[in-house]
Amino acid sequence: MLPRFLQRLRHRLLGRTTSYDEGLRDEAAFWRRSLAEGGRHWNAEAFRMRMDPCFEFQLSLRELVANSPVAFTGTIQVLDVGAGPLSGVGHHWPGRNVQLTAVDPLADTFDQIISELQLKPPTQTQRASGEDLLSIFQPDTFDIVVCSNALDHSRDPMRCIQQMFAVTRPGGWMFLWHYQNEAQEEGYVGLHQWNLDEANGDLLLWNKTARQSCRAVLGSAAAVDTRPDPAVPRSIVARIQKRIV
Ligand SMILES: C[S@@+](CC[C@H](N)C(=O)[O-])C[C@H]1O[C@@H](n2cnc3c(N)ncnc32)[C@H](O)[C@@H]1O
Repeated sequence: MLPRFLQRLRHRLLGRTTSYDEGLRDEAAFWRRSLAEGGRHWNAEAFRMRMDPCFEFQLSLRELVANSPVAFTGTIQVLDVGAGPLSGVGHHWPGRNVQLTAVDPLADTFDQIISELQLKPPTQTQRASGEDLLSIFQPDTFDIVVCSNALDHSRDPMRCIQQMFAVTRPGGWMFLWHYQNEAQEEGYVGLHQWNLDEANGDLLLWNKTARQSCRAVLGSAAAVDTRPDPAVPRSIVARIQKRIV
């Protein structure tokens, strides 16, 4: 796979776009190399943390739990959508039981890579696309649904959002972290066919032919709060609570 800046240059100069399937193959190749190198050319610290059986459940997610029906008691059911081979969501929270489920359409390929490299990640990613969550999970199942840097890799991010919302429990949350307008930045290459952006707290999905508002699609059942993540340049985080009716 060409380095990203060369890919961008190639596509800007030649005006070509790779196909979505080619993008998926590139994604699998990226993870194969990254895991084989212990994350050296990806993120060595992330690799170490994600392989740690005591990977801490993040503060940003604990805050959401505090404002949900499982605030004080009960198992916290968490779903990571588009998790990659090693979920970036922690699961260790002394005094609480966090049950993490991770899904990704490339899970079978990840299984193969992980077995070849004899790695033992704390959570095994299962096969599912964001667009089809209801084919394997019941509605209203998860307290927290996380999607990090993956919606804008999907074919139909609004369908993913609707499915994530459906499997979220009333009073539960979706936590969506993404780079802003990544498809435009990447030149609409491979998996990057959609941009995510923020306007007045709404989460917007757009590309060359469409523009969709999360608030408009999810309606009054959802409280959508999107804002820049001050910790990472050019990134946005949407916190969406499913109202209890
Ligand atoms: C950049 S990686 C992010 C992985 C992980 N969430 C992280 O933050 O490290 C994007 C992931 O999205 C996955 N993906 C692609 N299409 C998807 C879809 N339709 N639904 C869910 N995930 C998808 C890819 O297979 C890939 O693992």
